[in-house]
Amino acid sequence: MYGTDTVKIMTGHPYEVTIGSGILSHIGELLPQRSPCIAALVSDDIVDHLYGNEVTAALQDYGYTVYHFVFPHGEENKNMEQLSSLLSFLAESHLSRSDLIVALGGGVTGDLAGLAAAIYLRGIEYVQIPTTFLAAIDSSVGGKTAVDLPEGKNLVGAFWQPMAVICDTATFATLPENVFIDGTAEAIKYGVLADPQMFELLSGADFREHLGQIIRRSVAIKGDFVHDDERDTGSRQLLNLGHTIGHAIEQCSSYTVAHGHAVSIGMVIIAKAAAATGICDSAVPQMIETALANNHLPTRCDYSLARLVDVIQTDKKRRGDIISLVVPERIGHCRLHKINVAEMASFIEPGLK
Ligand SMILES: NC(=O)c1ccc[n+]([C@@H]2O[C@H](COP(=O)([O-])OP(=O)(O)OC[C@H]3O[C@@H](n4cnc5c(N)ncnc54)[C@H](O)[C@@H]3O)[C@@H](O)[C@H]2O)c1
Ligand SMILES: [Zn+2]
Repeated sequence: MYGTDTVKIMTGHPYEVTIGSGILSHIGELLPQRSPCIAALVSDDIVDHLYGNEVTAALQDYGYTVYHFVFPHGEENKNMEQLSSLLSFLAESHLSRSDLIVALGGGVTGDLAGLAAAIYLRGIEYVQIPTTFLAAIDSSVGGKTAVDLPEGKNLVGAFWQPMAVICDTATFATLPENVFIDGTAEAIKYGVLADPQMFELLSGADFREHLGQIIRRSVAIKGDFVHDDERDTGSRQLLNLGHTIGHAIEQCSSYTVAHGHAVSIGMVIIAKAAAATGICDSAVPQMIETALANNHLPTRCDYSLARLVDVIQTDKKRRGDIISLVVPERIGHCRLHKINVAEMASFIEPGLK
């Protein structure tokens, strides 16, 4: 017997996130009841090598016919070429509207396979099986799918919710440490947004024995924001804590600084800036910095104020001259703070000190 926990995500098409350790080999029975069909299993080469056979066997045991699509790992492959190859693969495999795409991997796989599911035959069902901490608590839930263009990240995408998310925490055992802590930055973000207790747990020495609980809470927090604002025009924007500056850092580094690492620095900068304007107490940035540093995440960068502001001004989430920044008021509560682009430099300057 194996134990699982579930969180229900209340979007237009509600679905469940199932969390457990060692549950990959039970994928067939954990999927929502449906008649066996073709399952197009999408993975990058690393994840396919590690877990592809186990998931294939588990699906075949339940009568699914499994076809594999494997692409080279890395953000640089979350692009139009791979999307096009995947769509052709689905057509060549004769997937119909009643068949299924199974995304097994990190956020790159989930975003690519999810977008293919959104547009192939005007939309077919897909399942997310996240294998990175970040994908488990962030990208697999919420229905945002995308690929990158040479002009920028995530510029082509769709909102398309999965029919289920199944997260096996045992798969994290093979994650490189740097990839694991990328997810930790996002988990700390959820703590700052909505859960002081989880924040405290994540600030401590070893939270990994509580991974299942942390994933459940993080997914529930994300689910609440997504439920309130599925299309990201209002409260879902709070999930961008640390992200406006984080995206600028990623871009300045030509994407050599990983997403979670950049968000980590972004959260510290914005919290310090918020404290300098009296939005929060100065203890707030200190607590955030300590939690991140305890998890070996970076809290500072060498890019100049001018360079960061320059990049932020091209942020796709900007509306006219106004930028909505997410600022912490205390650990467990954040709000949007709208400022004019012209004020951006003076607002974040104290954050870089
Ligand atoms: N859709 C959303 O809402 C959303 C939210 C956040 C991030 N994202 C996207 O997610 C992507 C980042 O996700 P990511 O960090 O998971 O990246 P990723 O998918 O590239 O995975 C990181 C690396 O870990 C490897 N890997 C994955 N699982 C493994 C395992 N269990 N053991 C060993 N190696 C493993 C992968 O092969 C890859 O090399 C970005 O493209 C980002 O834009 C999307
Ligand atoms: Zn993020």
